[in-house]
Parts: sequence; structure tokens; C-alpha cells
Amino acid sequence: MAKILVTGAAGFIGSHTVDCLLGEGHAVVGVDNFRTGRRENLASALRSAAFALHELDVAEPGALAKLIAAEKPAAIIHLAALVSVQESIANPALNFSLNIAASQLVAEAARLHGVGRVVFASSAAIYGDAAERPIRESAEKLPVSPYGAAKLASEALLLGHGAAYGFTVRCQRYFNVFGPRQDPSSPYSGVISIFARSYREGKSVVIFGDGRQTRDFIAVRDVARANVLAATRPGVTSGVANICTGRATSLLDLAALFASHPPGSPPPTHRPARTGDIVHSLGDPTAATAALGFTAQVTVAEGLHELINGPAIPALS
Ligand SMILES: NC(=O)c1ccc[n+]([C@@H]2O[C@H](COP(=O)([O-])OP(=O)(O)OC[C@H]3O[C@@H](n4cnc5c(N)ncnc54)[C@H](O)[C@@H]3O)[C@@H](O)[C@H]2O)c1
Repeated sequence: MAKILVTGAAGFIGSHTVDCLLGEGHAVVGVDNFRTGRRENLASALRSAAFALHELDVAEPGALAKLIAAEKPAAIIHLAALVSVQESIANPALNFSLNIAASQLVAEAARLHGVGRVVFASSAAIYGDAAERPIRESAEKLPVSPYGAAKLASEALLLGHGAAYGFTVRCQRYFNVFGPRQDPSSPYSGVISIFARSYREGKSVVIFGDGRQTRDFIAVRDVARANVLAATRPGVTSGVANICTGRATSLLDLAALFASHPPGSPPPTHRPARTGDIVHSLGDPTAATAALGFTAQVTVAEGLHELINGPAIPALS
């Protein structure tokens, strides 16, 4: 079993990744500055002797390198980031610091302290409004936000360092991730977390446009498993892969799935389409299967059931 360092450990994807690593018997060093993450997300992990949590800012030069020098992890899963596209547009300098400069610090720390593998949280946002569907990794990359641009730049930075200094880099291009612990408080949160809150409050869900727009929704439990495979599977080599299901779900389908759960919900409210919203987003998942042996297993219907009724599998204790 290996020691894995996870940045952004207290976040949505980070905390599920930590739980999955611990569940497979690995030792985990978690790093977070609680910018958007919450200690409660790690309630289960904090009960494990194999987990240690460090509060630090990955964008502060030297801070992460010092911890990596002391802990000597076999791999780093780098998830800490400024995660909102809109915030990256409002504050591009902060986006540069958290989403590019911090990636350079991760690459440097890996090089200096002999870390064998770096797994990076990239995003479908690097493709922008890609014309092809489903989107393959070779699709043209025309990011339409500082956030998407930073993810693309960080992929290149990390892959270049890995090739030059001999460590493996896996760039995971997540599509629309959903599941428990996703924070619905921001208006830009994942649509499923926003729909889930409306459902719990007995309110009508709001759909911008006709609701026929589609997304490739992937359950956070699957994303966590893909991260663990990328960090720990023997024989994995450097590369990029979409982390997606290859299945499209429309917002109308989503609203119908929520409505089918007791006690149901009022019909959706339609508002005018928002300018700039991508109409369709669908990934081709085959590269992740080839490189990592990963295939998404949780359907949107199963994932929603878990979100509403709690996990079908026992939580880690
Ligand atoms: N959720 C999605 O659908 C999605 C899609 C594509 C990519 N991603 C990427 O996945 C990663 C995780 O996203 P998430 O949805 O779990 O968001 P999140 O906000 O829940 O998690 C991000 C975590 O990073 C921490 N963090 C931020 N800046 C930090 C810093 N400077 N130092 C230390 N910790 C810091 C936050 O406190 C938080 O715990 C991000 O890199 C994000 O860009 C997410």
C-alpha cells in the first residue's frame, strides 16, 4: 500500500478521493486551506489512523514542497484550485496564482523530492465549445475562460516536467461531476446540486432555455475511483484522459428523475437561455478505459437516488 498526498482534500471531489484511497488501504496526507472545502467532508477520514490533514496554501511558494519533503508520498493527486469559471473571469490574477502557478509548485516539488506520479484535476472546460461530439482528447482546445485556459496550461506544465524529470503525469479531464458534498450555495454550482436543493425544499427547479441541453454527468464516486486508479495502478504511463460516462442526459430528463422520487416536485420553471451556456457536452470515455482500466459504473438515476436517500454502500468508519 502506498502513501498518497491529496491537495484540495476537504473539497467535494477531494474528500471522496480520500475516502476511496483509505478504503483501499492506502495512507493519505490531505492538504487544504479551506477556501471552499469543509472539514465536515472529512469526518469519516479524520477517524482513520491512516489519514493526516495539513492546513496549507498550495500557492504559497515552499509550503507544499516542505510537506512533500517530509512525507515523501509515492504520488500527488492535485485537486486544489479556484474552481469557479465565473470567479476566474472576475479575478484572472487569482486564477493564475491558484490554477497555474500552484501547478508549477506541484511540478517542482515532485521533481525535487522524487515523487513518482502526479494526477492532475483537469476539466472539459479546456475544450471550450468543441464542435465534435462525443469529444475525444484530440479535439481542438479553445478554452473560453481563464479557468479553462489555466487547466490546459497546467496540463502542459506538468506533462513537460514529468517527461523531463522522469515522473508519470495523468491529466484527468472531468466532465460534469455530481454527488454528495457538492456545495449548492453558489449560483454556478453543478446543476444537479442546485436541482437537489430545490427538490428538498419542495420548490420547482429552474431551467434556463428549453431544457434540451445535455451534459455528461459523472458520479463523484466514479471520479474518486478514477483518481485512485491513476495514482496507484501499476504500469500507468503519462497522458490525458476524459473522465466521463459517454452518456448524455438532458436537463428535462434530470427534472423528470427528481420528480419521480417521492414526494415528487412541481413542474420545472423555464427562464430565458443564458448567453454563453454550452448547449451540448458529451465526452468519449475510451481513453480512460485503455490507460487506467476505468469505466464509469454509476448511472445518473443511481447517483441521484444516492444523493436523495444516502449511499447504498456503507460509509467508511
Ligand atoms: N466539480 C466538477 O464538476 C469539476 C469539473 C472539472 C474539474 N474540476 C476540478 O476538480 C478539482 C476539485 O473540484 P471540486 O469540485 O471538488 O471543488 P471544491 O471547491 O469542492 O474543492 C477544491 C478544494 O481545494 C481547496 N483549495 C483551493 N485553493 C487552495 C489552495 N490554494 N491551497 C490549498 N487548498 C486549496 C478548497 O478549499 C477545496 O477544498 C478542481 O481542480 C476543479 O477545478 C471539478
